[in-house]
Amino acid sequence: MCGIFGYVGSRTASPILLEGLRTLEYRGYDSAGIFIPGNAPIKAVGPIDNLAKKIESPLSGTSGIAHTRWATHGAPTEVNAHPHTDMSGSLAIVHNGIIENFRQLKEGLKAQGISFESETDSEVLAKLIGTLYKGDLLEAVRSALAMVRGTYGLVVIANNQPGTIVTARMGSPIVLGLASDGNLVSSDPSALLAHTKDVIYLEDGEYAVVTKDFYQIMTLKGQKRDKKPETVEWDVEEVQKQGYEHFMLKEIFEAPEVIKNTIRGRLLVDKGRAKLGGLEPVLDQLTSLNRLVIVGCGSAYYAGEVGRYILEEYAGLPVDVELGSEYRYKRNLPDKNSAVLAVTQSGETADTLASLRSAKEQNLLTLGIVNAVGSTIARETDAGVYNHAGPEVAVASTKAFISQLTVFVLLTLLIGREKGMTQEEGEEIAAGLEKLPEILEKYLKDTKAIEVVAKKYANYRDAMFIGRKFHTPIAYEGSLKLKEVTYIHAEAYAGGELKHGSIAMLDENFPLVAIVPKDDVYEKMISNIEEVRARKAPVLAIGTEGDADLEKVADDVLHIPKVHPILQPVVTTVPMQLLAYYIGIEKGLNVDRPRNLAKSVTVE
Ligand code: M6R
Repeated sequence: MCGIFGYVGSRTASPILLEGLRTLEYRGYDSAGIFIPGNAPIKAVGPIDNLAKKIESPLSGTSGIAHTRWATHGAPTEVNAHPHTDMSGSLAIVHNGIIENFRQLKEGLKAQGISFESETDSEVLAKLIGTLYKGDLLEAVRSALAMVRGTYGLVVIANNQPGTIVTARMGSPIVLGLASDGNLVSSDPSALLAHTKDVIYLEDGEYAVVTKDFYQIMTLKGQKRDKKPETVEWDVEEVQKQGYEHFMLKEIFEAPEVIKNTIRGRLLVDKGRAKLGGLEPVLDQLTSLNRLVIVGCGSAYYAGEVGRYILEEYAGLPVDVELGSEYRYKRNLPDKNSAVLAVTQSGETADTLASLRSAKEQNLLTLGIVNAVGSTIARETDAGVYNHAGPEVAVASTKAFISQLTVFVLLTLLIGREKGMTQEEGEEIAAGLEKLPEILEKYLKDTKAIEVVAKKYANYRDAMFIGRKFHTPIAYEGSLKLKEVTYIHAEAYAGGELKHGSIAMLDENFPLVAIVPKDDVYEKMISNIEEVRARKAPVLAIGTEGDADLEKVADDVLHIPKVHPILQPVVTTVPMQLLAYYIGIEKGLNVDRPRNLAKSVTVE
């Protein structure tokens, strides 16, 4: 949420900062701005292109800071855009997070004669640092942050010390990049890849002073920290479109590769088992748990719901699934022998992180299924599994969701085989999973039918999604995808729930998307479709290849390959994602950057 970038080195800074912002744009795109010491800040509302147009020739200066904003306090206007400066314009900051006591601080500063231009909490922080700055930037930042309550990923630079950047972290990620021609600061390692793979993640409560060829990390109390750089595994190509028109399409088409990467070295097909190195230290605990509590937000939560269905059905493990934004605030009454598993692509989602920390306070085992290596949640869990899905750039999660479902299949195998799943069943699942990338590769060769259907359904204002059992969460995920990238009002229900109220909304203008593969609840789903047809609602069914009966009850059918039931949700997800994508395109929308959203939700 909000992208931060800073550079101090030997090259002209403004093109480097703009390029960094382009990579970070998915974190927020309400407005953007840069500050190069010796110049006034330059800001623009909307995408980075608007800012770039204002900087036709590079500004002089070899250091600077930049920001792309997802608005929290104050409308997305130029005046509210970062960087924010102090009263005299002698220093500037970019900030990600929320200063909770900004109103009190603002009143105090106003009483000292300080005036404000914007409605933002971040400007208060800039002014506060400005009043405390007497030549030692680190000291000013440290004193200001001691007065602040809230979260921050902060980068500060001053006109009279252009070769020094001060950065601090509390709740919002900050990562340093160490390059041969200078050093960088970013909210996300993906923006550093064009310069370096050597990075250092700051922890909460840490500060860093960064110059062209030096960095020093310290704690809030001023203790020096000796941190060694880590190497980012991702390549710069992975954060580029590689010939696809949009990141979302590229990432959907990456599904086969993502599954291969997720299962690589983790599947023992002839033994019908899975091996998850990251969970090995806690294996005994894991296989004797009374209950697993899965926590996530958005798509990650729905992946957790699929996890619940399959872990209970095939591994006999009782599972609860909780929204991060609820779990953290409610009274949890955990069994001592339970564990909390955070599912998260970014590894930075504030509510998921807070839930994890609250589980830790209760001395529960904490686990993670995390895509972003080195992220806060990855570092704070006791043990976990990396997705290896590669960086996900489109705001709507697609390939990470596929990978999360895949990890849940691996986890089900791992735990299931210790809890009574037969070798035969294990082998069947493992063999099916091994073959899945090939099946999806073939499926993705021809997506014309989805494009055609998308054109037809793009004209509706509403849509209802249903599924049963494993496909109930896929219905929810399908409706979320549609809402996110097409702004069509969409709802989702378990198939059997419609007649308990929501069917009242359906008519010829309110279509149904039914996920109805040939499984043990197929007949029940057909009955639900019939009930809907009786209300004249158009029906689009996602069903199994060769299921001719479906054509008799649905107006349109999208066929999917039949796989082992535990894997079927992975396959039904793909046409859901493509449907949303193609409808978004049909409506001429920016599918990679839907309005009002940001990729990584680091505020609460
Ligand atoms: O990074 P996380 O997986 O923790 O993110 C969770 C949600 O914010 C995320 O899945 C969100 O719902 C996406 N926009 C879904 O497409």
